[in-house]
Amino acid sequence: MKGKTVILGVCGGIAAYKAAALCSKLTQAGVKVHVVMTESATKLVGPVTFQALSHEAVRIDTFDELDPGVISHIDLADRADAVVVAPATANMLAKLAHGIADDMLSTILLATTAPILVAPAMNVHMYSNPATQANMELLRERGVQFIEPGIGQLACGYLGKGRMEEPEAIVEYVRAHFAAQEAPKPLAGKKVLITAGGTVERLDPVRYFTNDSSGKMGFALAEAARDKGAEVTVVAARVSEPLPRGVTVVRAESALQMEEAVLSRFAEMDLVVKAAAVADYRPVEAAPQKIKKTGETLQVTLVKNPDILEELGKRKEKQFLIGFAAETEQVETYAMDKLHRKNCDLLVANDVSRSDAGFGTETNVVTIFDKNGPALSLPLLSKRETAERILALALERMMGGGQA
Ligand code: PMT
Repeated sequence: MKGKTVILGVCGGIAAYKAAALCSKLTQAGVKVHVVMTESATKLVGPVTFQALSHEAVRIDTFDELDPGVISHIDLADRADAVVVAPATANMLAKLAHGIADDMLSTILLATTAPILVAPAMNVHMYSNPATQANMELLRERGVQFIEPGIGQLACGYLGKGRMEEPEAIVEYVRAHFAAQEAPKPLAGKKVLITAGGTVERLDPVRYFTNDSSGKMGFALAEAARDKGAEVTVVAARVSEPLPRGVTVVRAESALQMEEAVLSRFAEMDLVVKAAAVADYRPVEAAPQKIKKTGETLQVTLVKNPDILEELGKRKEKQFLIGFAAETEQVETYAMDKLHRKNCDLLVANDVSRSDAGFGTETNVVTIFDKNGPALSLPLLSKRETAERILALALERMMGGGQA
């Protein structure tokens, strides 16, 4: 982070006191910190505190021009490598979402082209208010990065979500942001499609068949590909994880919907990874009304779903195709069968009988197969690290290297 210029926006929330520690830690890490406070923030912490910690003048008023040679809000906005708003109040998020620029900080936020990172802090009801949630969703879609507030005791007396993340964690987030920005981008210019989650096969309007996929593995792959510079599309079925940012997300509930979403985009893709757990069968038809409890037994007839990966294997031209296999026994035999039958370039097999691998876990243990057999066996790793290693092997193969 050394040598970076960060604007630290401080809004009028009680967590403004934590912004002083954040300012100090960023400055100690070699960052040039320009603090911009709202009028309300100055009622909670004195600007002199930030001036002493940052060794820079603190800006509050848009018309308080310190240097006649420049227009200060534009000059600051242009010089920033990142703008960090901590604490970000519901009011400031609303202004940012709707392009309102009526003070120095909101004007800089509108004028800057630098990445914006916000650490919200507010009362739990203000946080969960649909207006705040809608503003945050809009901002996420526009690429604003959120450092999520924690759950805990709030200054207003409530217990809930809304407590600003600790300064140390925000510093780490900022550090990771700059590191990701500067990391090599070997997938720049490439289009990547990842499927994630478990499909939902409807029985009636309130009941369905699904599986335990959380979306973690697919999202880890999407985030890793995004950070390597790829233009990423995620086709997400039922997931329990927050959607990844900075990627295009297409929702597809059933196998049939996923088939349509994937096949219609396949031609333009360079790399496709099918990490979703797709149901092999679906009810022959979904009842239009809730099925009533009548007999002692209920017979449901299932019909085979199309195999999306197999179809991709048939259509494959330039695309590099990676399949997954969730197995509980004879992992290599089944994995190799799927690799050949579905014409994959690589097949990632996870032994889902393990408690620390496969569905819903934070970690995974995979063996990656190519047409010659096991190509890479990975130890127990986080799903993000597993994703990094899968993509590294794929990149090597896409560049034409490393294969016997
Ligand atoms: O989401 P998580 O909780 O993180 O869990 C991750 C995971 C266990 C779901 C993931 O690592 C995984 O193994 N995904 C594939 C699960 C699966 O459906 O495996 P399979 O062996 O049934 O299918 C083999 C391959 O064919 C998969 O790439 C699957 O997406 C694809 N397939 C299967 C059936 C079908 N009708 N169409 C398909 O495209």
